[in-house]
Amino acid sequence: RVVAVIMVGGPTKGTRFRPLSLNIPKPLFPLAGQPMVHHPISACKRIPNLAQIYLIGFYEEREFTLYVSSISNELRVPVRYLREDKPHGSAGGLYNFRDRIMEDNPSHIFLLNCDVCCSFPLPDMLEAHKRYGGMGTILVIKVSAESANQFGELVADPITNELLHYTEKPETFVSDRINCGVYVFSPDIFSAIQDVSIQRSDRANLRRVSSFEALQSANKTLPTDFVRLDQDILSPLAGKKLLYTYETLDFWEQIKTPGMSLKCSALYLSQFHYSSPDVLASGDGTKSATITGDVYIHPSAKVHATAKIGPNVSISANAHIAAGARLISCIILDDVEIKENAVVIHAIVGWKSCIGRWSRVQGQGDYTAKLGITILGEAVTVEDEVVVINSIVLPNKMLNVSVQEEIIL
Ligand code: GDD
Repeated sequence: RVVAVIMVGGPTKGTRFRPLSLNIPKPLFPLAGQPMVHHPISACKRIPNLAQIYLIGFYEEREFTLYVSSISNELRVPVRYLREDKPHGSAGGLYNFRDRIMEDNPSHIFLLNCDVCCSFPLPDMLEAHKRYGGMGTILVIKVSAESANQFGELVADPITNELLHYTEKPETFVSDRINCGVYVFSPDIFSAIQDVSIQRSDRANLRRVSSFEALQSANKTLPTDFVRLDQDILSPLAGKKLLYTYETLDFWEQIKTPGMSLKCSALYLSQFHYSSPDVLASGDGTKSATITGDVYIHPSAKVHATAKIGPNVSISANAHIAAGARLISCIILDDVEIKENAVVIHAIVGWKSCIGRWSRVQGQGDYTAKLGITILGEAVTVEDEVVVINSIVLPNKMLNVSVQEEIIL
């Protein structure tokens, strides 16, 4: 049997995702019309003999209750949220719930970061992991040499795929192969995490008896139950024939900012194009809007027949899109109203916001730049004929003059 664990983190980790994370935990922010965490969860469904999916995080329990029960029913796999009382790090969080995870007596445990977007080739990883016979297998991808330092860089044996060297976000270039944040482990991973924790408490005790200055420096070190998977496990265990790599040639992105969520929404929409085309809007029929490219429209949203939508647009529940509106590359959240002839391009429009007639809400479409897309927080009103370009607008603001390259607090 196999168990999958998805690390969802907690509220303090989501600061780069503001203002969108002010309303909703980042893992529940919709990409291609589905919560971010839905994409790894539905990928887990393809793992043979999957017994259980756990989400581990330090968000309030009630934030996940509704989602977890609806997704369990939909996929017919039990999905549970396990709350940490404080952050224990990516490996410490897993270790904290080891008894719970081992209840199903799994032979293998998948561990997935929730803030990555990829095709999650989990069954292929499992096959490779069994062939290698190690303790863990890491999903890796080749990226540009310039971008590699934002991730864990690694070197693997080209023949055996053994992980030979691992450095987390190094200052000087090591390799253009990086850690995708998707792993499969054998249950021995728990003893490896325990070893780190024991070593750390031994070291702290040693320092405590040696001198007062050492005691002060020990206070600055990490708590014994805080264990990071990358620095504390992958780096020291590289080159010991315990860890192996599986390289994906498919798409992969990390979702730390709203701009990247817009890019990843496009990637998931185009994946739906092949995996579940029925989820996408077709634009067939005389009464429906003109649809270009991959578009998701929630069944409760109302879109006027003369609106033009797409490519890369997702429209959430109860949104109203009026006559003559033009939407390109955007995420329209619940209860938004877009009035006649308004234009929205490269933008995220927050819950209950309203965009007036002949208005324009637009970003330049650089997903990695700070003001590369325009973001409206919850309940923002853009009055008629107002233009908002490359800006971020915090919740509950009313815009009656045009703005460009501004953060409206
Ligand atoms: N439950 C829980 N508790 N989750 C946590 C904790 C914790 O204490 N700390 C981090 N996480 C979750 C985050 O929400 C995220 O999904 C994942 O664990 C990894 O987060 P970080 O440890 O902050 O690392 P990162 O995202 O900057 O980088 C990691 O992922 C990259 C791939 O996206 C590293 O492993 C990199 O090497 C890797 O390239």
